[in-house]
Amino acid sequence: MKILVVDDEIEICHLIKLLFLADFPCQVDIVFNGKEAIDAISNEQFDLIICDQNMPEKNGNEVFQYINNNSINLPFVLATTEEWEHVPYFTTNPLFFQIQKPQIAEGITKLIKKLKDEPSDVRVEEGDLVVEFSPVPIEIIYKMGALPVDIYLKIRDGKFLKVIRAGDILSGGHLVRYRSKNVHDVYIENCDIRLLTGAMEKIFANFFNREKKGALKPDNIIAFQETLVEGFSLFPEDPLFHRYVTEFNKLMLEVATKYEGVEDILMQLMGDKRSYICKHASVSQYIGVFLARKMTWDSELSLVKVSMALLFQNISLIQMDLNDEIKIFDIQQNTADKRTVKRYREHSLKSAQMIGNLTKMPIDLDTLILEHHETPLGEGFPTGKDFAYISPLGAIVILSGVVAEYLLFNKVYKLEELSADEFLTKLEDEGFCKGVFKKFFPFLEELLIG
Ligand SMILES: [Fe+2]
Repeated sequence: MKILVVDDEIEICHLIKLLFLADFPCQVDIVFNGKEAIDAISNEQFDLIICDQNMPEKNGNEVFQYINNNSINLPFVLATTEEWEHVPYFTTNPLFFQIQKPQIAEGITKLIKKLKDEPSDVRVEEGDLVVEFSPVPIEIIYKMGALPVDIYLKIRDGKFLKVIRAGDILSGGHLVRYRSKNVHDVYIENCDIRLLTGAMEKIFANFFNREKKGALKPDNIIAFQETLVEGFSLFPEDPLFHRYVTEFNKLMLEVATKYEGVEDILMQLMGDKRSYICKHASVSQYIGVFLARKMTWDSELSLVKVSMALLFQNISLIQMDLNDEIKIFDIQQNTADKRTVKRYREHSLKSAQMIGNLTKMPIDLDTLILEHHETPLGEGFPTGKDFAYISPLGAIVILSGVVAEYLLFNKVYKLEELSADEFLTKLEDEGFCKGVFKKFFPFLEELLIG
């Protein structure tokens, strides 16, 4: 039996897939919007479709209409948080089954029972569950924190190797290592699927039950932009700056505050405008957006990612009680004690986890944050990867952070006060004109020398 799952939430697609794999002999394909669903249906034969209502491109009832209008024999299961009674098409054309989110496991269990017990048009093949392990995308596992199940990697000859024990977390180090080896899925034992889906459902329940958040409150927008202006007083008030504050930053806030928990983090960040991380965030954000805009690939999404990564990269320093200029400068000058340095070096991972734990953040944002202290010559932390493994967006985030740190550390309050040549030579010595960093270097000169 072949099932098509359609949902714009990648986690939900995989939750449904896992629930089927645990209980029912079938193949599950996944697509992320209505348009992809229609393409899939018109090219391949499926025995059942489980479809969300609200999605980009085309929504659930458009997919259902397409199936009915083309007389395709494909039982339709609607899985939605919406009150589907309000979509006339669903009330006049009977559904095969309906699943109310977030009770997805409950819904799928009932659906499977219906498929097994009730005679229907749906083709159900007899057969055993032959696979012992099921794949799960690393991103989903990474967002879960302490894992409820053992995690395996698929190695040669169809064998599986246990890499993480239940109770441990999949660390940023794992994530970086697996991605650099092009590993996208990890595996869990099929007997553990219920444990994992149970934990996934808890996460969804929080997500769906959240209050629907509006945009950032007007007072907070003003406070936020004032903070930025203070950070930017370093730079000449040029047209780019003006456009940045008035247009781009608004866009970034609009995007960022769609995510649950972001507004709280922004408020923490702005708690003390004079704090190290607040100054660092606003200065580095300006540099990052300047560099990104200079590139031809500066899509809005890339700009938003760079900007969010730079804003949030040091957020965990607040919880670690390291949000203090003196402490940070001690660390940079190698005069801090070993324990403080060790704790400081954990902040990339901790910030990445904080942001990664927010539901539905852009999937590579936590990677950008995780890598913000790597360096071109591989002398950074947490993994010491070098320029060959750093992405272009990662390079912008790293370079902007380094420049902002230097300006703050040397108390450069106006760019004219900066010995730009000296600083650029230092960056060159540190490898910042190599590989992926090379193309940004001339723009950095432009920004710092004018
Ligand atoms: Fe940092």
